Amino acid sequence: MSQKTYLMLKPDAVRNGHIGEIIARFERVGLTIEKLELANVTSEQAAQNYAEHEGKPFYNGLIEYITSGPVVKMVVSGSDAVVIARKLMGATNPKDAAPGTIRGDFGLVMDENVIHGSDSPESAEREIGIFFPA
Ligand code: RTP
Ligand code: MG
Repeated sequence: MSQKTYLMLKPDAVRNGHIGEIIARFERVGLTIEKLELANVTSEQAAQNYAEHEGKPFYNGLIEYITSGPVVKMVVSGSDAVVIARKLMGATNPKDAAPGTIRGDFGLVMDENVIHGSDSPESAEREIGIFFPA
């Protein structure tokens, strides 16, 4: 079933010059890039996107990190796009992410884990609304 997902190359991915290599992986499996924009995440967008983590010990650091420099925001579509993208991304902590996954290949620590991807079609719809307001 074709669906959309929201993906975001985090500031470390952009800083380290990995934009092209990472986007190529999504194209390679046959997903379609529908929207693509380099921009800074505003503190309002960061707070909305990570509302579920408010109050957790890592929350302030997470907001600081995601607003620390430009990100690449994308809407990507295709069959089972949410699950396929999460599979390509690998485990949240690069320490646990398998080699061959994006976090396994481009990340080292949880605090800079390279990429964000929606965890369900409902989250995708919500996140696309936050980062690509109509
Ligand atoms: P994301 O939302 O960024 O795609 O990552 P995820 O679904 O794999 O993980 P999630 O549980 O939603 O966590 C969101 C982001 O918060 C940071 N985090 N740090 N230090 C910690 O224990 C911790 N836990 C989560 C990570 O940057 C994670 O991507
Ligand atoms: Mg998440």
